[in-house]
Amino acid sequence: MSIQDILTKPTFTKSDLVTLLSAEGEERKALFAKAAEVKEQFVGNKVYYRGLIEFSNLCGKNCYYCGIRAGNKDTHRYEVTEEEVLEAARYAWENRFGSLVIQAGERSGANFVNRIEDLVRKIKQMSNGELGITLSLGEQTEETYRRWFEAGAHRYLLRIEVSNPALYHQYHPKDRTHDYQERLNALYLLRKVGYQVGSGVMIGLPFQTMEDLADDLLFFREHDIDMVGMGPYIEHEHTPMYAHKDRLMSKSERFYLSLKMVAALRIMMKDINIAATTAMQALDPMGREKSIRVGANIIMPNLTPSRYREDYLLYEDKPCTDEDAEECKRCLEARIHMAGGKIGYGEWGDSKHFYKRNKDEKS
Ligand code: 5AD
Ligand code: SF4
Ligand code: FES
Repeated sequence: MSIQDILTKPTFTKSDLVTLLSAEGEERKALFAKAAEVKEQFVGNKVYYRGLIEFSNLCGKNCYYCGIRAGNKDTHRYEVTEEEVLEAARYAWENRFGSLVIQAGERSGANFVNRIEDLVRKIKQMSNGELGITLSLGEQTEETYRRWFEAGAHRYLLRIEVSNPALYHQYHPKDRTHDYQERLNALYLLRKVGYQVGSGVMIGLPFQTMEDLADDLLFFREHDIDMVGMGPYIEHEHTPMYAHKDRLMSKSERFYLSLKMVAALRIMMKDINIAATTAMQALDPMGREKSIRVGANIIMPNLTPSRYREDYLLYEDKPCTDEDAEECKRCLEARIHMAGGKIGYGEWGDSKHFYKRNKDEKS
């Protein structure tokens, strides 16, 4: 079947997706054009901000691909102070960013859970409830998810990383803290507690096939995910996965494959939120703008205090490590305008999909 025929189908099969993800030249252009059209029609050209605070690079886990894994002894570990978090939040609020994301390595101790709960409450208080809060803090118990939700967080990002369980176990240590079923269960718990649920994957990992990536897209649909953040896998020297660097696609191939993933997902799940991720920018100087053009509608300006940025190095060549909040804000404004987008200042820009599901469930 031709790309044009596939693009007119109401739902894509796995084999359709493999064809779309393999598209090059004119066919790839047709995919991107269709995605831009769907985006315009269903979510419009607004791009919503999620000011990103990389709260801490302490992590109890040991994912084989990640630069801040516990086993990497070359990383200088930090935790942002409460004052600094509140200052960053105030900056976001005063500059009319609709929302914040608090992201960190995964920890579960009582101190950590309490601190986050407290910070969420304080940010809500400081902003008169105006800043929306997304958390990205890994797998936690239902009780913890509930406490943070009750404190005022209303969205949660937990990437499945790879939806194929065999690959998941290949990329993680074989122990109870790195269990595919547990991670999947965490997504159910988040939904149950009431969050808008985000997930995502890495694209272009060693041993990953087009079929795996097609399954990743089907995973988002099957689990009715509200928001997706996905981007290319980028190697990091001080990780076990670096040993397979010779098997990787070129950076440009990984980048275009990621763009095709974004475009295909926008056509499949028309009203969800999709992030233009920082990893896209790491592989292409116009990475985030290109993502916006083919379907993304969320961007995460970095608000992490400058002195910590170098230490939150998940992968090589991460952008914005030498900049501060003001520079990223100015830079992004220009970039979003170039991509034909309009910034949704002062708006939460929640997932339309989430509200639609809730309405459907009630009626
Ligand atoms: N390349 C790209 N993304 C990575 N992440 C971790 N390590 C890498 C890497 N080497 C992503 C994971 C995680 C998020 C915080 O960063 O998907 O969920
Ligand atoms: Fe920790 Fe997340 Fe990195 Fe895994 S990907 S080591 S959980 S920060
Ligand atoms: Fe940080 Fe461009 S967004 S420097």
